[in-house]
Amino acid sequence: MDQVFEGLGQGLITSPLTFLATANAARMCDAPVAFCDVDRDTGLMTPETLEQAFVQAAFPVGVVAPVHLGGRVADLQGLADVASAHGAVLIDDACHAPGASYLSGGEHRRVGDGFAAIASSFSFHAIKHLTMGEGGAVLTNNLELAKSAKAFRGHGMVRDPGAWVSPPEPDAPWYYEMHDIGYNYHANELSCALGLNQLSRLEEGLRVRRALVGVYSEFLSDVPYLSLPAVPEDPNEHAWHLFAVAIDFESAGKSRGAVMRGLMEAGIGTQVHYIPLYRQPYYADRNVDAYPGAEYYYSRTLSIPMHLGIEVKDAEEIAAALRRVLAGK
Ligand SMILES: Cc1ncc(COP(=O)(O)O)c(C=O)c1O
Repeated sequence: MDQVFEGLGQGLITSPLTFLATANAARMCDAPVAFCDVDRDTGLMTPETLEQAFVQAAFPVGVVAPVHLGGRVADLQGLADVASAHGAVLIDDACHAPGASYLSGGEHRRVGDGFAAIASSFSFHAIKHLTMGEGGAVLTNNLELAKSAKAFRGHGMVRDPGAWVSPPEPDAPWYYEMHDIGYNYHANELSCALGLNQLSRLEEGLRVRRALVGVYSEFLSDVPYLSLPAVPEDPNEHAWHLFAVAIDFESAGKSRGAVMRGLMEAGIGTQVHYIPLYRQPYYADRNVDAYPGAEYYYSRTLSIPMHLGIEVKDAEEIAAALRRVLAGK
């Protein structure tokens, strides 16, 4: 990947509200990472927060990696415009948003279509929309990046004769070259069979998730201290990987831990997505005041169950339990 990343530049700007992997990917290439603040209600990077991150970055930035937190697609075109004005490219972390769309130049486009971003990454971990058990994919519109990624996932093997750098042995159909180090990141065929089947069910899964949002919104709309996640005007711009409500724990007089434990006693698992990455000792940036949007979002967020197995009666029970726990009963 070295040649490609030399071309792309040095550092990465990403959202602090993401799984560790987004920033770690840059660190694995020895690239420095800067975090960008987010909108305090959606948890998404915006063109304005990105502009500010560029001004504050202490190193040249080559790549911007927005995250479609919870499945809500960030303003990809707006972010791409800011990135390109600073000589950087966009690689979106689309792990939460397979099948979702975004608006660009008045047209609806699919995440991963290579229009605003030069590459988009997807995870096929067990809890994702589309799973292969583990693994993932990168979609790119950049031929060089695609060739590098292919070699990288296969021990650095280059089989394309057009890319060979030394004269091949004559009449040697077995010939290949290695130009750079690579790893064994192939997906196995059993996982791929599962993945293809999952892919055929992606649209159906998105429909079920969007319907569940309607059900939750109805049952939760009048729960005190709780705000529902905003539904985008175009429902296709959200894949609903998560259903994250915002709770004013202070006014409710309950800590988030107590609420999580109360729900767990009722058999309801919840989670916080995510601890902002600048709070991680590894990233060693404890200046939380620099990220008011992310801090506000983090202080209130709680993800309640969102998966295809949830039925209307489950959503009703979850809403009732939340109401009960928040009322201290
Ligand atoms: C937003 C986000 N980015 C990256 C990843 C990493 O994906 P994987 O675990 O497949 O490497 C995940 C997985 O949980 C994720 O949720």
